[in-house]
Parts: sequence; structure tokens; C-alpha cells
Amino acid sequence: MSKIQFLTPAGVTHVLEAAPGSSVMEIAIQNGMPGMVAECGGAGACATCHVYIDPAQTDLVGPAEDLEDDMLDGTTAARKANSRLACQIEIHDGLDGLRVEIAPEQ
Ligand code: FES
Repeated sequence: MSKIQFLTPAGVTHVLEAAPGSSVMEIAIQNGMPGMVAECGGAGACATCHVYIDPAQTDLVGPAEDLEDDMLDGTTAARKANSRLACQIEIHDGLDGLRVEIAPEQ
């Protein structure tokens, strides 16, 4: 199990347990994190699971693949260098302690 820290758009921090194989989006949805929409259910087709990775941890998750990179151009909230789609980040033990901020608009 990994612990993933979510910062909601309202500025509230939640630390959630995450099993390997789930995505960061799935953990957020299963636990009712405010601000996480995930309209397409994880297909990488809606960009409503936009998160900002803690800038000190972007190496942990690596860069976005091409499709995700294209989708990130269409996010409602501003895209930043640390923007990712939470549905495209699979939990593994190396992500223990990851900190993500849910984008303020989806
Ligand atoms: S849930 Fe739709 S792109 Fe992530």
C-alpha cells in the first residue's frame, strides 16, 4: 500500500491509502475527493482528472505519454509543467508519499 496525499481545490489535505494497480484518479473517486470529476472513467479522453504533481516529485511519475500530452492541452484549469491526468498514473510502491493537487476547475 502507498499513501497518496491529495490537496483539494478548497485547500484541504487528505492522505489516502492506495493499492498497487489502481490509478491516482480511481483512488480519488473511490474516496470522494472534491474536485475530481473523471467524466470518461479513466479512458484518457476527458481531461477532467487534471492534477498538479508536487514539483519536487515529477520524476516519480515520469512524463505524460503522447495521448495524455495532447489531452492536457485541453484542460479547463491552466496547464503547468507539473500537470498530469490522474487516470494515467498507476499506483506502485515507488509512489508512496506522492503529493497531488486537484486542479481548481475540471
Ligand atoms: S478520467 Fe477522463 S481523462 Fe482521466
